[in-house]
Amino acid sequence: LGMVKSFKYIIVGGGVAAGYAAREFDRQGLKPGQLAIISKEAVAPYERPTLSKGYLNPNPKAAARLPEFHVCVGSGGDRLLPDWYKEKGIQLILGTEIVKVNLALKTLVSAAGEIFKFQTLIIATGSTVIRLTDFQVEGADAKNIFYLRELEDADKLVESIKMKKYGKAVIIGGGYIGLEVAAAMSINDFDVTMVYPDPWCMPRLFTPTMAAFYESYYENKGIKIIKGTVSVGFNANANGEVKGVKLKDGRVLEADIVVVGVGARPLTALFKGQLEEDKGGIKTDGFFKTSMPGVYAVGDVATFPIKLYNEMRRVEHVDHARKSAEHAVKAIKANETGKELEEYDYLPYFYSRTFELSWQFYGDNVGETLFFRDDNPLSPKPKFGSYWIKDGKIVGAFLEGGTPEENKAIAKVSRLNPPVENLDQLKKEGLSFASKF
Ligand code: FDA
Ligand code: NAD
Repeated sequence: LGMVKSFKYIIVGGGVAAGYAAREFDRQGLKPGQLAIISKEAVAPYERPTLSKGYLNPNPKAAARLPEFHVCVGSGGDRLLPDWYKEKGIQLILGTEIVKVNLALKTLVSAAGEIFKFQTLIIATGSTVIRLTDFQVEGADAKNIFYLRELEDADKLVESIKMKKYGKAVIIGGGYIGLEVAAAMSINDFDVTMVYPDPWCMPRLFTPTMAAFYESYYENKGIKIIKGTVSVGFNANANGEVKGVKLKDGRVLEADIVVVGVGARPLTALFKGQLEEDKGGIKTDGFFKTSMPGVYAVGDVATFPIKLYNEMRRVEHVDHARKSAEHAVKAIKANETGKELEEYDYLPYFYSRTFELSWQFYGDNVGETLFFRDDNPLSPKPKFGSYWIKDGKIVGAFLEGGTPEENKAIAKVSRLNPPVENLDQLKKEGLSFASKF
């Protein structure tokens, strides 16, 4: 039997949520040796969104590289370098995958057979990519077919961008990864084609009007978009490198690099049968407590109550990863000291940045939509947005090209849910309606 290492607190997973949880533990008061973070990745927690943006910048002087983007710089906080964890007596156990969990015995077992014991566990294992090999797409294991989730994936993509300079890239998927990586490949001077089955990009959030703007912006950048079909197979050369993408409609696209972004799946398998689940995630209460005492789940894996909508939801975005982690640590500490803590009261916030574009969305995208434009004739940058209106009230708002104050205004209006008396009036007022609050 291997040596057992015991900690008061263990965080399994070393991504965004783990880093923000560590900072919160430190703020709340932590003794050296109490906390360990166990991560499959070889590096300390970092701001994952950088991987599909600054990390892919072709300018070596401008490209983001670690240690620049360790947490918590993404939200304007201090950068926690590996030395910070050392100073605080927090054990960063990196390059270590947990393969077995026994929650009743409070033990974790690593791939190398090490045993870890905890009193309190925070599950922060995040998501993994859905692979085309998962649905037996022919040839999907060819070289230069990439996915993007972890630093290692981004390094492989960057290496291949250098090898295949001025080549052809096919991007499979029209969601977040598809749109962000297509832009990055275009900026890297690749000839880019996007393929997705949906009638328009990002159908989870974009209305057809919004999507039409982004699609035509991308087409003006030289990106070709093929909608309404999927890849059914890949051709490779004698070296096993991808050369062609076979589409369901019979076409074959030439490709030197393929990047696939067809969705993510929360990493909950370790806990199957040991914790209650809901909507594909680990079920928690408004303090991120799971069905097992002393076990918490945060970030992408947690299905938690959204108070505003009186509903259980899972959110796969960085703002929630940060805030849920902080809330769980506050809850753990409140539990120990008998203090009161409010339930998590989350306003969903998603964003993306590509080329010169930048949008933010707050709230809930349900009900009717009302599109508005707010272009400044003196600015080359477009500015437009959309409100979502349900039961006569604004419940969500999207803004492309907003200033920090304008983004704050749409956040506020999405939280306050003001009634809308007159749609024509709202359309006329557009962004200035939100700015009144
Ligand atoms: P996260 O995935 O960050 O971390 C999980 C960690 O657990 C990983 O280090 C993993 O290796 C480790 N792990 C998993 N299983 C393990 C095991 N068994 N043993 C040990 N370690 C294990 N969101 C947004 O709002 N805006 C954005 O612009 C972007 N951009 C973006 C780009 C890219 C490329 C990706 C992949 C994702 C985004 N996101 C985003 C989403 C956002 O990054 C995501 O929601 C958070 O990282 C989730 O944080 P978690 O800590 O839950 O998981
Ligand atoms: P996604 O769910 O955003 O998009 C998946 C897309 O895949 C769909 O829009 C659809 O067009 C497409 N698709 C589905 N099946 C397909 C098939 N067989 N062939 C071709 N296309 C198919 O997922 P993603 O873009 O892969 O992102 C992965 C994860 O990373 C998500 O959790 C996402 O939230 C996160 N992420 C977020 C951001 C951000 O918030 N800015 C950026 C990058 C990644």
